[in-house]
Amino acid sequence: MCGIIGYSGPLNAKKILLEGLSQLEYRGYDSAGIAYFDTDSNIRLVKKTGKVANLKEYCSQFKDNAHCGIGHTRWATHGDVTDQNAHPHQAGKVTLIHNGIIENYRALTDSYHLEGTLKSQTDSEVAAWVLDSLYEGNPMEAIRRLLPCLEGSYSFCILFKDHPGELYAVRSVSPLVAAYTRSGALIASDLTALIPYTRRYFVVPEGQIVKLTPYQITLYDKNQVPAQPEYLEVNWNIDSAMKNGFPHFMLKEIYEQPEALRNTILPRMSRGLPDFTDDQIPDSVFETCNKVHVIACGTAMHAGMVARALMEPLLRIPVTVSIASEFRYEEPLIDGDALVIVISQSGETIDTLAAMRLAKSYGSKTLAIVNVKGSTIARESDYTLYTHAGPEIAVASTKAYSVQLAALYLIGCRMAYVRGRYSSQEACDFLSKLLDVIPAMETMIGRKEEEKALVTHLIQHSDAFFIGRGRDYAFSLEGALKLKEISYIHAEAYAAGELKHGTIALITDQSPVIAIATQEHVFSKVISNVREVKARGAFVILLTKQSAVMDESLADFHIRIPDVEDVFTVFPIAVILQLIAYYASLGKNLDVDQPRNLAKSVTVE
Ligand code: AGP
Repeated sequence: MCGIIGYSGPLNAKKILLEGLSQLEYRGYDSAGIAYFDTDSNIRLVKKTGKVANLKEYCSQFKDNAHCGIGHTRWATHGDVTDQNAHPHQAGKVTLIHNGIIENYRALTDSYHLEGTLKSQTDSEVAAWVLDSLYEGNPMEAIRRLLPCLEGSYSFCILFKDHPGELYAVRSVSPLVAAYTRSGALIASDLTALIPYTRRYFVVPEGQIVKLTPYQITLYDKNQVPAQPEYLEVNWNIDSAMKNGFPHFMLKEIYEQPEALRNTILPRMSRGLPDFTDDQIPDSVFETCNKVHVIACGTAMHAGMVARALMEPLLRIPVTVSIASEFRYEEPLIDGDALVIVISQSGETIDTLAAMRLAKSYGSKTLAIVNVKGSTIARESDYTLYTHAGPEIAVASTKAYSVQLAALYLIGCRMAYVRGRYSSQEACDFLSKLLDVIPAMETMIGRKEEEKALVTHLIQHSDAFFIGRGRDYAFSLEGALKLKEISYIHAEAYAAGELKHGTIALITDQSPVIAIATQEHVFSKVISNVREVKARGAFVILLTKQSAVMDESLADFHIRIPDVEDVFTVFPIAVILQLIAYYASLGKNLDVDQPRNLAKSVTVE
C-alpha cells in the first residue's frame, strides 16, 4: 500500500522523485522519503513523517544535483509513523525502499543477528540488512541470493553505494511498472508516476531483476540473462489523473461515472446484445458453469452483492459472494464447474489475488473485472473484463463501483442469453435499460445540492444507520462504507427487517437513519421499518423512486430518483450515497481524497 518510484537519467532526479511521489501519494501518505546519489556519488537520504508536501519543503534546503535515486510514500504496516520508520532504509552499502510485507522478518532478524543493529521497527530495514550481508560487490548476485530468504510480498528499489547511477528493482506480488523514456529510466508502483514521461511501459515480472542506468533499462530473467520486456500502451492520459478544476478527485470521479459507464458498456454491444468477443471471453465460460462465486473486498465486494441479486433469480444457479480475506482461508465448495468472478479496481488487492489463486487451485475458471490494465490480477486470471473508468485516485471508490456493476450486469445478461434464460429481444431490452441508467445518474449528479443540504444534520452525530431490504440492503452496505471511510462517522448498514432483533435499541432522538426503499415488492415493509425508527425519534433520510407513494411526514429528508426498474436503481442511488459521504467529509473539513489510516490499494494483508 505504499508508493515507490525510482529514476536514473540526465534530469534532476530529486524533482522527478518528488513529483512522482505526489502522483503516488494516494497509495499511502503516513510519511515519505527519497535517497539519491549526490554530486560526490555519496547517497543522501531524506525522509519525514507527514505528506509529500512536507518532504518537498524539507528538501528545498538542499541544492545538490542528482541524477539517480529512489522515493517512497508510506502506509505503515510494521512500526509507528516516525521519521526513523519512513523509507528509504540504509544498511551498510545498501539503500532500499519497499512496498509489501516480509512475513519472516523476525526469523531473519534472529538468523542474521540484527537485533542490536536495527534503527527502525520495520520489516523493510531487516531486508536491507540481509541484502547488505549478502552483498560482495555484485548487486545482481546479492539480490538473487536475497530472494529465497524472503517470505511475503515485496517490490524493492535498491541503490548500492559503490554503484553510482545504477538502480535495481525486483518484485513479488506487490506491483512495479517500468519504462525507458526520453527523460531516462523510470520505475514505479503504478502508471500515475510514469504517465508524465511515457505511454509505453512494462510490468516487471515477478522474481525478475530490473537494472536502471541513465542510458538504459535492462530486465533480467531468473537466470540473470537479459530478457525482452512485454511493452504495453497506456490507455488514458495524465489529465485523467489530475483534478482538472474539481476541488477533489472524489467529486471529479463521481462526475465521471456517466462517461465511465458509456466507455465500459458501449464497446461490448453488438446488434443490441452484450458481446465479449474483443475481451476474448468465450460463451463456453458462461454456458457450462453450474454456480458463480464472486470474490472481492470492500466496495468491489458490495458490487458483487448487487450483482448476486440480479444473477441468481435470473440464472437460477447458486451465486455466492465472498469477502476475499475470508475466502482465502476457507475450504470453498468450488470446482471446475464453478465460474469465479473476482472484482478489483486496482487489480493488486492482495487478498483478492490470493483468493483467485486458491480458486484456480480448485480448478475453477476465473474471470477478473479490473480497472487497471496489466495489473497482477488481470494478468493471472483466465479471463479479464477491463472496466474503462480511467484512473481512480480518490481512496473512496465511486466510478469503479458503478462500472463494476455495469460489467457484472453485462455478464449477467450474456449468461442469461446463452443459457436460454433471455431471448434475444429480452437481452436487448435489458441492455437498453442498462444504458438508460446513465441519464438517471446525470440527473442525480445535477441535483447534488440535495445531499449538500442534508448532511448538516448528519455530521452532528457520531453514528448513522443505513437500512434497506433486498437490493436496497446491498446498496446500504456501500453507503455505510463510503460514509465511514471519509467522514469517520460510525455508519452501520442493516437489513431493515432485522432492526427489531436488537439494533433498534440504538435508535434515539435524532439518530440519523438513511432508509433506501426502491424495491417495490418490499416497499411497504421498509416504510413500516421507517415508521418504527421514526417513532423512536430518528432523523430519517428516505431514498425512493420518483413514483413512490407514501406519507411525506415520515421523512425529514426525501430524495427521489428517476423511475428506473428495481434492478437498475443501484446506479442513481449510488450517486446519492457517494455525495452524502462526500459532503459529510467536506462538512467536517476532512481530507476527502486521502482519509486517515487508508490507502487506495490494499497490497498488504
Ligand atoms: C472503497 O471505497 C475502498 N477504497 C476499498 O474498500 C476498496 O474498494 C477495496 O480495498 C478493494 O479495492 P480493489 O477494488 O482495488 O480491489
